[in-house]
Amino acid sequence: MYAGSKIIGKDLRLINSKLMSIASRADKLVPGIKSHLLSGGKKLRPSLLMLAYRVFRSGNKDRYLKQALDFGAVIETLHNASLLHDDVIEDSGIRRGRRTINSLYGNKKAVLAGDLLTAFSMSLLYNLKSSKTIEKTLRLFGRAARELVKGEIEEVTGLFKLTISEKEYFDVITGKTAGLFMAASEAGAVLARAGKKQTKALKEYGRHLGLAFQIIDDILDLTGTEAVLGKPAASDLLEGKFTLPVIYALQKADKIEKNRIKNIMLNIRKGKKEAGGVEYIVEVIKKYGCLDAAYVKAKEQVNKAIFALEKLPKNEFRRALEKAASFVLERER
Ligand code: FPP
Ligand code: MG
Repeated sequence: MYAGSKIIGKDLRLINSKLMSIASRADKLVPGIKSHLLSGGKKLRPSLLMLAYRVFRSGNKDRYLKQALDFGAVIETLHNASLLHDDVIEDSGIRRGRRTINSLYGNKKAVLAGDLLTAFSMSLLYNLKSSKTIEKTLRLFGRAARELVKGEIEEVTGLFKLTISEKEYFDVITGKTAGLFMAASEAGAVLARAGKKQTKALKEYGRHLGLAFQIIDDILDLTGTEAVLGKPAASDLLEGKFTLPVIYALQKADKIEKNRIKNIMLNIRKGKKEAGGVEYIVEVIKKYGCLDAAYVKAKEQVNKAIFALEKLPKNEFRRALEKAASFVLERER
């Protein structure tokens, strides 16, 4: 949960009970899926969807509310499916402070567990009675799911690529993170039957918020501790992922520093983790102020997100969306 989620507390509890019912069913096939995955997390994507929805419809007996709650559960389930696969791809052992499914049962079961959650998210879609609005929502869901996979494919393709550009980085995070944020906030507006301009504004809000979220995630990976992050620190570097602070450091580093970084990464690629290697890269990143430079980029995205909200009616839900944007910059995990 995050600052601003209180006013949609009841909605989130209802979404959570839908998630728990999926989790209980999935747990019968893959024991642990419930406690290890679906129970945790910040529930940011369904929160975004509900806040966007509530900007236009704040009543408790709203006729479209059930659709929005169902769709919130769909998005969170797909997100969790993608994390199960992500942990296989990155061979991660810990997520949200707990052992990952791949580390407990192996990759085969973890891939299938991800497929299972994808299938559950698709079944949930059948709950939504067909209409023009639902067709629109399904289209944007399909787009987000495709973008999610595209971003991950681009990321895997770019691993250990020292020449990766800022643009390539933005393409990756647009797909793997911003896409689902965008789908969540846009779906909230679409399901609330908001107007075209306001729907577009919320779509833009979600996109910028998602970009900021991932930039901060990548900064935290370099600055946080395992105890706070719930996963090992600097895991991006160990996986060969060059995130924004690293890209900036590579642009600024002198020849000697660049060569040293290159060697450290080549060794990591060969499975030889040089003592002090990651620490050296972090030192270069800090020496050239690259964490701050990346933070400035995240802040730019947050400002754009908040600016997009100008087109919306002023109420407590819009204010909560503004707060959510600031929370992205302040979070520690
Ligand atoms: C986490 O990012 C990963 C994602 C946001 C997307 C993962 C997408 C896939 C694996 C594509 C498959 C999709 C489906 C629907 C099955 P991160 O690795 O930067 O963050 P982390 O530190 O939390 O792992
Ligand atoms: Mg990952």
